[in-house]
Amino acid sequence: MTGSSVAAQPVTDAVDAAAAIRHHYDVGNAFYALWLDDSLSYSCAMPSGPSDTLGAAQERKLAFHLDAVGAGDAESILDVGCGWGAVLARASARGVSRSVGLTLSDEQADLVGDLGCPGVEVRRESWTDHDPAARYDGVVSVGAFEHFASPADPPEEKIRIYRRFFARCHGWLAGGGTLSLQTIAYANMDRAHASGFMQQEIFRDADLPTLAEITAAADGLFEIRSVRNDRLDYAWTCEQWAGRLRARRGEAVDLVGPDVVARYERYLRMSALGFRMGKICLLRIVATPQRDAFFGSPGTTSSAR
Ligand SMILES: C[S@@+](CC[C@H](N)C(=O)[O-])C[C@H]1O[C@@H](n2cnc3c(N)ncnc32)[C@H](O)[C@@H]1O
Repeated sequence: MTGSSVAAQPVTDAVDAAAAIRHHYDVGNAFYALWLDDSLSYSCAMPSGPSDTLGAAQERKLAFHLDAVGAGDAESILDVGCGWGAVLARASARGVSRSVGLTLSDEQADLVGDLGCPGVEVRRESWTDHDPAARYDGVVSVGAFEHFASPADPPEEKIRIYRRFFARCHGWLAGGGTLSLQTIAYANMDRAHASGFMQQEIFRDADLPTLAEITAAADGLFEIRSVRNDRLDYAWTCEQWAGRLRARRGEAVDLVGPDVVARYERYLRMSALGFRMGKICLLRIVATPQRDAFFGSPGTTSSAR
């Protein structure tokens, strides 16, 4: 493959999820470009200290996940929830010959398709439908797990959904492959106290996991090699984003209107506070498949789903 390509197949069993994602992400690439860094990373960065730049901190985070999955030696990687393609572009630059990204957002898929990075393929497809012909050497998922369960799902159903995700990752990974997962989680707070504003107006129909739910869901499928809680990194990132949005406020209002801008300002403020107070946390989990747990081929069903 000589350049990036877009696979525009219909999302079959994730229509509601796709609508919720579009509500948030299809506000417009130009709006996000005003206040995200140049890589358009829309997830927690990894600052070296308070005076770091957002761009450098995002590059450090991208390198962390690519290193975690051994992208230096990998021939193929999957990015579940690829956003605007920062992981894919850097995997391509490291010489990974096949980098596949999944997103439910049309605007993101179009932009990634236009990047022209060798070996990059973006698919408008839910992970629930992804059925690749060949396994991957690494799976990265950054800032997507938060969207997988809904506030209406009972606790046991949430764990079932997360377990389905881990079973899928298990089936997608080649021998020696690694999963690098980054997600926000409830910490000193439970779902009963989650903000209605965040769940209805910002991340529609999305509910956060807890670390206990994640480990229960991965049990027997993945060995968790490391867990970091980098919540202060996310407080810093939200504060950076808020400052950048403030600096470009006039342009933002011209693009999306005052109500949307006010909504984002409130959400960034609330999130920064939640991370600072430890109500929510930021998990970075590196895990490897437990091979005796699963005998299926990529995308096939197993008793774990
Ligand atoms: C917060 S953005 C993070 C994007 C990117 N990983 C980053 O760090 O900049 C969440 C991403 O997850 C994707 N997503 C959410 N649910 C998904 C699903 N069921 N299947 C595939 N992608 C999903 C969204 O389309 C979006 O690209």
